[in-house]
Amino acid sequence: MNGRLSFSDAPLIRVEPPGPRASELISKQDRWETVSRTYTRFFRTAFEEGRGSTIRDVDGNVFVDWFSGICVLNLGHAHPAVMEALRAQLNRLVHINEVATEARVGFLEELVSTLPGSLKGRAKVMFTVTGADACEAAMSLARWTTKRRTIVSFSGAYHGVHGAVVGATANHHYREYAGVPQYAVYHLPYPYTYRFPFRVAEGDEAKVVVEMLEHLLRDDYSGPGPIGGVMVEPIQGEGGYIVPPDDFLPMLREVTDRYSVPLIVDEVQSGVGRTGRIWASEHSGVSPDIVCVGKSIGGGIPFSLIAYREELDEGLPAAFHLGTYRGNPLGLAAGRAVLRVVRGEGFLERVRTKGEEVKKRFQELQSAIPQIGEVRGKGFMIGIELVDDPVKKTPSALASKLRAEMFRRGVLMHTCGHFGNVMRFMAPLTIEDDLITAGLRVFESSLKGLVSQ
Ligand SMILES: Cc1ncc(COP(=O)(O)O)c(C=O)c1O
Repeated sequence: MNGRLSFSDAPLIRVEPPGPRASELISKQDRWETVSRTYTRFFRTAFEEGRGSTIRDVDGNVFVDWFSGICVLNLGHAHPAVMEALRAQLNRLVHINEVATEARVGFLEELVSTLPGSLKGRAKVMFTVTGADACEAAMSLARWTTKRRTIVSFSGAYHGVHGAVVGATANHHYREYAGVPQYAVYHLPYPYTYRFPFRVAEGDEAKVVVEMLEHLLRDDYSGPGPIGGVMVEPIQGEGGYIVPPDDFLPMLREVTDRYSVPLIVDEVQSGVGRTGRIWASEHSGVSPDIVCVGKSIGGGIPFSLIAYREELDEGLPAAFHLGTYRGNPLGLAAGRAVLRVVRGEGFLERVRTKGEEVKKRFQELQSAIPQIGEVRGKGFMIGIELVDDPVKKTPSALASKLRAEMFRRGVLMHTCGHFGNVMRFMAPLTIEDDLITAGLRVFESSLKGLVSQ
């Protein structure tokens, strides 16, 4: 990485957020915008400008950004390569539907040459707009291919909240008021070894899950009916930054192959370098049938896609999955620039090395702070699960307090997990070393302060 991308003075709190100017903007925002917002509850300020892994608010506070716009900014704010690509594209063409452009073909060539396993160099691509939209397209394609309706997904899964895909998302909260039925989706437990729901021998969690899946595939007499696809996050995101055992994806691949059921790998959060490989599924060497890509691929522009085995494309009718803004030229231009940076020399290697260092640092803290129940992760996708009692593993309410305290001290860090008790390290992959150190210092002193209260 050449040159500093971030503001040099972070974290810097000039005035406790929200400061006077931010308060003014927030009160106007509150007047007009829905109360159902989420992030404005945690990060009560108004932002003005982002640079690399830092973001400045309107009162001159500069935050270290470990939030990355919820895993969208793998290259951080205003990365020069992305900005240059966007500016060039802005001057040419901002919207067109599906028709070939340099940006479209350039992106397709770049993307397909990065894809995991046997998709590399020979996949088909269908553009969508959001992560949920990509997952919708993936589920529809699997159902169309197999002519079977039921999709298996996993507890803790998050695939979005669009009409059909909300069924695959595990948290019932999202289905309660939307008035949508659970569209033929069956949830199996994810091999979350720290909280596996059944008593099994240590190390057997993934095997048990895959045996349950095989039971459903072999015998559809009862239960969810004939299965048309299995949708999985290679590392669970919203569910708690959960890394499954190494043999989980290979076993899923083996059983889905044996029963000719498409394996959909949702890389919306874990993809584009986040885990130290371009795709998290590369860690296990598995070739998905369909891969869902979103978030960071557009460098901040809403842009997503599915890539899938060429054979699944045969006979697919026009207008199979629709959306006016699919394959937006700005997203395509940004996406190509993002992939080029991520594939650049030494980039992913640094994510792997730094990621291990950060994980080790959190693990060292674990030996000093018993409320850190587990530290897990790959690359820059690290979860720190907080518990009140390390033996009983009682989920702790500390995480939301820690997020608030870190914000007060100038670091943006967010939570996830079934109980909202997992802190997640999802800093931009381009973050400078001093901002890792500064964030870790704030994390440590804030958590120590909270547990000693
Ligand atoms: C793994 C995964 N899939 C799908 C989605 C949905 O993406 P979007 O919010 O862009 O619809 C998310 C969002 O967090 C995600 O983490």
